[in-house]
Amino acid sequence: MIQKISRNFFSSLSNNKVLNKGARRWGLKLGASKVVAGLTVESAIEKIKDLNDSGRMVTLDHLGEFVSDEQEAREALQESLHTLDVLHEHGVHCTLSVKLTKLGLDVDEALCWQQISTLCEHAANYGNTINIDMENYARYDQTLEFLRALRKTYDNVGTVLQSYLHRGIADTEQLAGIPLRIVKGAYKESPTVAYQDKTDIDENFVKMVQTHLRNESYTAIGTHDHKIIAEIKAFTEKNHIPREMFEFQMLYGFRDDLQQTLVDEGYRFRTYVPFGHDWYGYFMRRLAERPQNVTFALRGMFSK
Ligand code: FDA
Repeated sequence: MIQKISRNFFSSLSNNKVLNKGARRWGLKLGASKVVAGLTVESAIEKIKDLNDSGRMVTLDHLGEFVSDEQEAREALQESLHTLDVLHEHGVHCTLSVKLTKLGLDVDEALCWQQISTLCEHAANYGNTINIDMENYARYDQTLEFLRALRKTYDNVGTVLQSYLHRGIADTEQLAGIPLRIVKGAYKESPTVAYQDKTDIDENFVKMVQTHLRNESYTAIGTHDHKIIAEIKAFTEKNHIPREMFEFQMLYGFRDDLQQTLVDEGYRFRTYVPFGHDWYGYFMRRLAERPQNVTFALRGMFSK
């Protein structure tokens, strides 16, 4: 019950445009610096190097979403291109995760298409990869259409599927051969499209990962859930799935010990590192996921 109230409360805060805008001016507050690596790519780079040194690969997310202004969307592309330049200059093991609404999906589909294509091209020139994060269900079909169209030209692009969606397994089958990150899903969605019960979401998660691996497709397992991780480990061992076919992924600042244990056990591992001024929506979704994260944030508020 408390979990449900907390989830609804922080989910609605995450969509609040006024607070989102205001937070840009505050700097990293409310303990967000524990889970956001800095305001600029230059400030995040040392953390990326530390993660690489510990055996972890990284995917970097320049925070921002639901952009409704063309100028802002164009600036977002320039910032992402610059981010790729900086990653290349520093020679780090780090891909880029992006959200289509940051690149203008809600402003003009044609503009967004042009921008994501430019980004894939730029990444390809550096031998780097773009991962398109999955946003809320209202953008789901468009995101998959973009992915399929991009894959006709670029093989350095993948996306994310969410196990809370009823169509999760069907879409995993449809995307055989394309690198996918499987996650549970971070948005509040209607029961007409999404499971609401944790057991269903978890069960679907494991089935989606197994489906993609059985289809011999590269799979990123994006979860902090040790029970699911144990289940996937057992599945891959039993079915002799090579460790090069999959990687575990977790968010920066969460379960650092477990992240390192997986690395030490010889699994491929990638930390998802967010940075940037638009930290507010991302941070509120983390608070919505787990009531314990609120305590974590409160501790951060007073220790900063
Ligand atoms: P969940 O929150 O369901 O927790 C399950 C159990 O794991 C808990 O009961 C607890 O036992 C344990 N646990 C979890 N967190 C813990 C912690 N911090 N400390 C100790 N124990 C903990 N979503 C989306 O919609 N689109 C996207 O593109 C992405 N991208 C993405 C990338 C990566 C790398 C990750 C890890 C996640 C995402 N997500 C996402 C978010 C995802 O959908 C989901 O909301 C969160 O990962 C939370 O779900 P979990 O599976 O991590 O565990």
